[in-house]
Amino acid sequence: MDRFEKRFYPEEEYHKPEVVKEAIWLGHEAIQKAPKLEGVPTGVEGLDNLFFRAEIDSKTGKVQKKPLGGIPRYAVINLTGVSDTGKSLMAEQIAIKRASEGEKVVFITVESPAPFVALGLKERAAAMGLKFEEFEDNIIMLDAASNHKIRNNLPDMFETLAYVYRTYKPRFTIIDSITGLFEAKEMLARQIVRQFFNFMKKWYQTAIFVSQKRSGHEELSAEAAGGYAVSHIVDCTFVMAKELVLTQYQAKLYGAEIGDLVRFFRIDGCRLCGHDTKLHLMEITDLGLVKIGPTLSEARKRKFLRKEETNTPPA
Ligand SMILES: Nc1ncnc2c1ncn2[C@@H]1O[C@H](COP(=O)(O)OP(=O)(O)OP(=O)(O)O)[C@@H](O)[C@H]1O
Ligand SMILES: [Mg+2]
Repeated sequence: MDRFEKRFYPEEEYHKPEVVKEAIWLGHEAIQKAPKLEGVPTGVEGLDNLFFRAEIDSKTGKVQKKPLGGIPRYAVINLTGVSDTGKSLMAEQIAIKRASEGEKVVFITVESPAPFVALGLKERAAAMGLKFEEFEDNIIMLDAASNHKIRNNLPDMFETLAYVYRTYKPRFTIIDSITGLFEAKEMLARQIVRQFFNFMKKWYQTAIFVSQKRSGHEELSAEAAGGYAVSHIVDCTFVMAKELVLTQYQAKLYGAEIGDLVRFFRIDGCRLCGHDTKLHLMEITDLGLVKIGPTLSEARKRKFLRKEETNTPPA
């Protein structure tokens, strides 16, 4: 060890620097191992057409924006919002859609015991016009709400999860919610989320981590419990929000009536593909289905045009 190295390394940590060739990839080597960029249909009306990829037209040579037709495969998505914004409904809806298409889905439930989640899933399926019995075993629930061993002990959680991945070969994982796994220890959020993120990548999962916002967080930001820990680590963030219309200004802005509850959805970022960035109106139907509506500006325009039509006196 020379004098320079001595200054920076404690004796016991020092080893002679060596070239780690396994960490070096040429472009063609990395791309050979890269997964294909494809869309995973979600069953959520209006969501799948918000993701794009670039394609070069073979005839004209021009770059075209191609819809992906779903959320990007292998993405780990943070789905955040305050309480009652529709996060669990959307997560369940996506689980049902994937399972009904023959894919195995792991549902890690941290808030509600497995039988209650199953009830919700069955309801979601019925609302989507699907028979839960026909694909019920495509959903594998991991009950961290009732089982404190997997909830509080991450090595047990990962061992169980690895067993589930080996046994059932799922391609999709939902955690509702990741926040519940660092309750009362939010300073560990980054570390916990990072471990789950790496685990999803290792097992080639497309994943949704539901995360809860605290009342102090700005409603439409990606910030959630644990600060920006979740959104910094994951590939994409979806934000859901709601607002009660109480003033004329809000009513005009949202094209709504006073007393209406308006819901919003936006994609805060996605590092795997191109995506829509606008603020969308969102709806939760009476049967508990989430639908992504038009952008706020489109909705205002439509409302304006409808008003114009009704105000025009008959010729
Ligand atoms: N089965 C249902 N049928 C109709 N509407 C429902 C149904 N379940 C929930 N809702 C409505 O959707 C809203 C959002 O519910 P959801 O459980 O998805 O919220 P969340 O964002 O997961 O909240 P939390 O952070 O508290 O878990 C509810 O407040 C309710 O108004
Ligand atoms: Mg919920």
